[in-house]
Amino acid sequence: MIKICCIGAGYVGGPTMAMIAKKCPDVQVTVVDINEKRIAAWKSDTLPIYEPGLDAVVKEALGRNLFFSIDVDQAIRDADIVFVSVNTPTKTFGEGAGYASDLQYWELCARRIKEVSTSDKIIVEKSTLPVRTAEAMERVLHSGENAMHFEVLSNPEFLAEGTAIADLENPDRVLIGGHETPSGQKAVQTLVDIYATWISRERILTANVWSAELSKLTANAFLAQRVSSINAISALCEATEANVNEVSHAIGTDSRIGAKFLKASIGFGGSCFKKDILNLVYLCESYGLQVPADYWRQVVLMNEYQETRFVKNMLRNMFNTIAGKRLAVFGFAFKADTGDTRESPAIRVCRELAAERAKIVVTDPKAIENAKIEMPELIDQIEFEEDPYKAAKGAHAIALLTEWPEYKTLDYQRIYDSMSKPAFVFDGRNHLDHDALFEIGFEVYSIGKGLKSHLQ
Ligand code: UDX
Ligand code: ADP
Repeated sequence: MIKICCIGAGYVGGPTMAMIAKKCPDVQVTVVDINEKRIAAWKSDTLPIYEPGLDAVVKEALGRNLFFSIDVDQAIRDADIVFVSVNTPTKTFGEGAGYASDLQYWELCARRIKEVSTSDKIIVEKSTLPVRTAEAMERVLHSGENAMHFEVLSNPEFLAEGTAIADLENPDRVLIGGHETPSGQKAVQTLVDIYATWISRERILTANVWSAELSKLTANAFLAQRVSSINAISALCEATEANVNEVSHAIGTDSRIGAKFLKASIGFGGSCFKKDILNLVYLCESYGLQVPADYWRQVVLMNEYQETRFVKNMLRNMFNTIAGKRLAVFGFAFKADTGDTRESPAIRVCRELAAERAKIVVTDPKAIENAKIEMPELIDQIEFEEDPYKAAKGAHAIALLTEWPEYKTLDYQRIYDSMSKPAFVFDGRNHLDHDALFEIGFEVYSIGKGLKSHLQ
């Protein structure tokens, strides 16, 4: 029986391992983490992350061939394959601060693996890492006296939060990078065989380690670039008579462009996009490639511009003052169907609204607890309210920042009646029925369409 250990029981490690365990009953999967609370939650009825469909997958395999544990060393020692899925946030200190990946957690894992192992192992990079990290890790793993052989593979994760289960069940592709040596190719084949249990072979791509590492950064950079591109156009639409939804639809029907990731929004968030682009920028710069570095950096700057532009539009349309006004923020998660708030555009929006001394009320079906953690400095200034009707009561405006499906079906007449007038809706996701809201009496601002007003 193949034994897998996964270090890191987060948004990536948890769902990915649960799916492998579900699909491969003859593989024993143990997910370990240093965070005891997280491990306890994985074994309980309330999983530590919200992900549609995840509960059923975990339930099916838990205790059968899926285990969660805090005994990191034992799980490593027993494993044939060790996935490393720890966090690699952007560095906040020293060389490359603000751009490079902080690899301290990764390196700690490599050292731990080396220290406790008593047999050869395949080490799989699952966290997004800068190109050539595998090489550095190999050096750590093979340093000093060591009889064991560690073969490092890169197997980047492409799942998106909110759709993780569908993405894992039926991925566009799985990418496995390995060395072009006999032992490298043997390790690649071992991992290919695991995924091939449920994914057709044509969708399992193999590459060299560096290509696999770089492909992950590139995929996220391209996706983020599409969002920034359409957001750049949304600003121009607001200045003209164009409607960004129409532009997006018109260009998306060109099969060379394609329809996905062309939804103008308040901006992209999530733990990956910004981090991976900045990582790419840092890589380019460290190879002396200043123009490519600047090119990719612009995607992030465009995103920040879009967030700030949204707040400026709120301020301008609300008669240039929001001090003391109650504003209801509908949605704090970085997108729908997740409780994750990492890099959510809502963070900047709330900070900027708070700087204008607005009274902010945040509502979200899944992300309130994380939202509280994101803004410790504003915790006394912001109210958190589960019920969107209560959040909107007495408010001058609603700012919709996450496209939760339930926000489409609220009783907006009831909400309008309870609000201060004129009542504004600022739709940061072009999610609501703007004509219907306008009919009710709302002043309606949407991305790439601007303000529809009863007052002019
Ligand atoms: C992303 C990648 O999609 C995934 O392959 C990778 O493994 C991790 O990073 P994720 O961060 O979970 O996944 O979310 P994604 O669905 O890509 O959305 C990212 C952000 O872009 C969200 O804030 C979303 O609201 C925004 N977005 C997306 C838009 O604003 N417009 C779009 O058209 C699409
Ligand atoms: P991701 O979105 O990449 O999955 P998360 O932050 O959700 O990132 O998960 C990473 C997990 O890795 C966290 O639960 C963290 O506690 C865990 N972790 C970090 N360093 C170590 C380590 N040295 N050993 C075990 N777990 C670790």
